[in-house]
Amino acid sequence: MDLQECIVKRRSTRNFSKGKVINKDTIETIIQAGMNAPSAKNRQPWKFLVLSDKSKLIKILYEKYDEIKETKDPGSLYTTTKCIENCSHIILVFNNQLSTYYHDREFRRHRWLADVQSIGACIENMLLTCEALGIGALWVCDVFYADREIVTEYNRTDELIAAIAIGEKASTKYSKKYLVEFGQAVEWL
Ligand SMILES: Cc1cc2nc3c(=O)[nH]c(=O)nc-3n(C[C@H](O)[C@H](O)[C@H](O)COP(=O)(O)O)c2cc1C
Repeated sequence: MDLQECIVKRRSTRNFSKGKVINKDTIETIIQAGMNAPSAKNRQPWKFLVLSDKSKLIKILYEKYDEIKETKDPGSLYTTTKCIENCSHIILVFNNQLSTYYHDREFRRHRWLADVQSIGACIENMLLTCEALGIGALWVCDVFYADREIVTEYNRTDELIAAIAIGEKASTKYSKKYLVEFGQAVEWL
C-alpha cells in the first residue's frame, strides 16, 4: 500500500476481533515506526508501556465510569472502554520530559506543547503503520478520565499522553465524514 493510500484509508477501529493476538514482532515494528517521527529538538519525548494483559486498565476505566456517571458527563468513556475490550494490546504512551520543564511558565508551556506535538506525530506514524500492515488501531484519550489511577497502577513518574488500542479488525469501514470542507480549512494569502 503506498503512503497516500494508507493516509486516506486509515480509519479508527472500534470493532476488534476477540481473542486475536498481534505478535510481539509486529508490535515492535509499530513502535519503531513511532520512534522514527520528528520531535522537537530531537528530544524523542515518548515512552511506551505495552499491556498484553489489559484487564486492569479496562477495570480502572469501568470503575471510573461507575464513579462519575451520576455526577459529571462521562462523555464517551463507556463506549470507548467497550470498544477496546476485544483488542489485542493497549500501548500507553507517556511523555518522558516532565523533569525538564524548569525555567519560567512560558518556557514550560512552549516545551510541553512541542513535546506533545512530537508524541502526536509518533502516534500517527504508529497508526499509519498499523493500516499498512492491515491491523486495526484506535487512538484513545478517554483514558484521561482515570489518568491518576492509571499512573498509580503502573507506577509511572512520567505523564500519560494517550493510549493506542491495537488488534485485528473485525470489520472495516473506509467512509469519512468531513466536518470541515477543504475550502473552509485552508486559507491562501
Ligand atoms: C487525540 C485523539 C484522541 C482520541 N480519543 C478517542 C477516544 O478516547 N475514543 C475513541 O473512540 N476515539 C478517539 N479518537 C478517535 C477519533 O474519534 C477519530 O480519529 C475521529 O472520529 C475521526 O475518525 P477516523 O480516525 O476514523 O478518521 C481520538 C483521536 C485523537 C486524534
